[in-house]
Amino acid sequence: MPLVTTTEFLKKAQDGHYAVGAFNVENLEMAQAVIQAATELNAPVIIQTTSSTVKYASLSVYRAIVAALAESAPVPVAMHLDHGSSYELCEQAACAGYTSVMIDGSKLSFEENIAVSAKTAAMAKQRGIPTEAELGTVGGKEDDHVVLDADAMYTNPEKAREFVERTGVGSLAVAIGTAHGFYKGEPRLDFDRLAEIRKVVSVPLVLHGASGVPDEAVQKTIGLGICKVNFATELRDAYTKAVRPVLANDASVFDPKVYGKAGRAAVVELVKHKITVCGSQGKA
Ligand code: 13P
Repeated sequence: MPLVTTTEFLKKAQDGHYAVGAFNVENLEMAQAVIQAATELNAPVIIQTTSSTVKYASLSVYRAIVAALAESAPVPVAMHLDHGSSYELCEQAACAGYTSVMIDGSKLSFEENIAVSAKTAAMAKQRGIPTEAELGTVGGKEDDHVVLDADAMYTNPEKAREFVERTGVGSLAVAIGTAHGFYKGEPRLDFDRLAEIRKVVSVPLVLHGASGVPDEAVQKTIGLGICKVNFATELRDAYTKAVRPVLANDASVFDPKVYGKAGRAAVVELVKHKITVCGSQGKA
C-alpha cells in the first residue's frame, strides 16, 4: 500500500498502550529487512533516515526505495525524517514525499526551538504530514551532534506542556536518560519524569536512543505513555556483525548480494524482536 503518515498509527498506539517501532535504515537491505519483519508480525512500522544518512544517498533515493517496498507490503509503512537538522531539510523531505518529519531544535534555546518547531509544524501541516520535535537533549552521538552524558539535559514537564501548546507539533521526543549509541553502563531512566510529562502533554511521546536499553525498561516507558520507540545503532551493529564473518571466512566472496543477504537476515530477526518488545505485533 502507499506510504501512510504516522498520525493514525501513533494515535492508535497511544489509545492501545503499545508503541510503534521506528527503525533507522542506511541501505536497501536494511529497508527490506524492516518491512519483512513488520510483515511477518503484521505490525505497523516507521522507517526513518537521519540527516547524515540522507547525505549518503538522497531524500528522493531513500523515499523511492521505501515507497516501492511499502507498495507491495501488506502492512502500513511510514517514512520519517529523523533528526531533521533544519527547517529547510524538513521542507525538502516533505516535498520529496516523506510522510512525517522531525525537526531537532534541541541544541537551541527554548525560544529558538519553539520558533523553528512551530514553523516546521505549520509547513508540514499544510502538506498533510505530522511533525515530531525534541525538547531536552538525548545524550550520546547522533550524526555529528555529540552530547556528553553529563550535559544531557532532561525534559522539564512544564516546559514540555508549554512547548507543545506553542508549536503545534504532533509528537514530542523526550529526554529521560536515554542516549544515542551503545551505553557504557546500565542506562538509568527517569521514569517519574516521564510520568509527569505524560500527565501534562497529550500528544504522542517518543523515546530516542533505545539501542542497548533493556527490553523491560523500554516496556516500562511504553506503559508510562511512550508510543514511538527509535532504534538505530543496534540495526547497524547487527547488519555489520553478520556481514563481517561472511567476508572474513571466504576471500572468494565478492558479490554484494551474498553478504547483503546475511546482513538482511540478521536485521529481520532483530527488528522482529523489537516489534515484540514494543507490543505492536498484530496491530497493522
Ligand atoms: P539508538 O542509536 O540508540 O538506537 O538511537 C536511535 C534514535 O534515537 C534515532 O533517532
